[in-house]
Amino acid sequence: MSKSTGVASRPVSVSDVSTPRAELFARVLDPASRANPYPLYAALRSEPVSRQSDGTWVVSGFDEIAALLHDPRISSDMTNAGQSAGGQSLIMQDPPNHDRLRAAVMGRFTPEVVESLRQEVHNLIDGLLDAVGSGTSLDLVEEIAYPLPVSVICALLGIPPQDEARFHGWADTLARTLDLDPTMSREEQAAIDHAFTELHHYLENLVADRAEHRGDDLVSGLLTGGDRGEPLRGQELLITVRLLLIAGHETTVNLITNGMLTLLRHPDILERFRREPELVVPMVEELVRYEPSVQFRYRAALADIEIAGTTIPRGSVVVLLLAAGSRDPGHFTDPDSFVPDRIPNEHFGFGGGIHYCIGAPLARMEAQIVLPELVRRLINPRLTMDPPPYRPTAALRGPRHLWIEVDGIRP
Ligand code: HEM
Repeated sequence: MSKSTGVASRPVSVSDVSTPRAELFARVLDPASRANPYPLYAALRSEPVSRQSDGTWVVSGFDEIAALLHDPRISSDMTNAGQSAGGQSLIMQDPPNHDRLRAAVMGRFTPEVVESLRQEVHNLIDGLLDAVGSGTSLDLVEEIAYPLPVSVICALLGIPPQDEARFHGWADTLARTLDLDPTMSREEQAAIDHAFTELHHYLENLVADRAEHRGDDLVSGLLTGGDRGEPLRGQELLITVRLLLIAGHETTVNLITNGMLTLLRHPDILERFRREPELVVPMVEELVRYEPSVQFRYRAALADIEIAGTTIPRGSVVVLLLAAGSRDPGHFTDPDSFVPDRIPNEHFGFGGGIHYCIGAPLARMEAQIVLPELVRRLINPRLTMDPPPYRPTAALRGPRHLWIEVDGIRP
């Protein structure tokens, strides 16, 4: 276990938020806010559509986010707001191209495929906990939450286990591309470009191999096409596979880690969960609302859009602050409380509208297996550092390490 990098961020409390509203989103991007951005979101929500001093429009109210997620005048292609193209995977595209690529993936990434991975997830969590052995401390991120989803996605895509380790570095670096952060250094940009190139070469070889030797993996399935989707080829296939890898990795790492962090901060709920394991289904949903892996997504305005008494001008960068909408007191009772059996729970943790997360069933399944197993096998788990150190990315938020002490691991 390595503990060297952790410097806990200072939590922000509501009374701290004296920043002018037009500067609030800059504070959200600041790594110092990572441990607790929610007071900043609450301050932003007092004007649910607010212009920031850099010209960005931040949308933080539940109703406004819901409206824009379904508004065809809002584009996911950021070149419409003067930003660089960034690979043009389906998550960054609009209809009709988006719909065609999405149908190709949905036609192959079916509920049966997700179900077929269930036993693999059980085996993986068992193996990872066994590997902790008789230790009395562990880093949940390094030892459990990080390796597990990589292995699941590799199983889904048919990537050989011996190549999995290489994906750690690439996925970690590429997560930074989710922030349009003007303070990103040249070195960081160079590291991102390098990771993209390496991953691209790797996937080129993988696709060429699958074209020769079809298997029952997703890459082979995308090459073949199916009832609902046409076959994917060339760059489109490469970019789609890369998206599945990036979109499905760090997000799930953060769901597992944020899940354990939240349970350890709520010992009464942890105890209740031990007694009532069937709580897991609504509880995972509540975790995705309460501590979402994806905090916000960028969009571009294709037209002048009137909303909440203001006008977002055409060509603007729009931030859909999903995590703020999921804690909007106008929509949720007691939104800042973690309520494990909250029903209904209509949150934005997996987005909404035409870009609703394709991997949500897989992510839910992983968390619903892993969290009960952690709670069952870890004896008397305690947090070593609270708040834990966070990764710098604001859009994709989660701890870099989560050090836990235990009295042992049950078989
Ligand atoms: C806890 C885990 C996850 C969370 C919180 C999450 C969250 C999200 C969100 C918020 C979006 C909407 C993006 C937007 O509107 O711009 C999204 C889209 C997407 N997610 Fe996930 N995701 C998770 C896991 C996964 C997994 C496991 C996969 C695949 C293996 C995946 C694949 C995708 C894809 C392909 C899209 C783009 C859909 C589209 O543009 O039509 N996600 N996800």
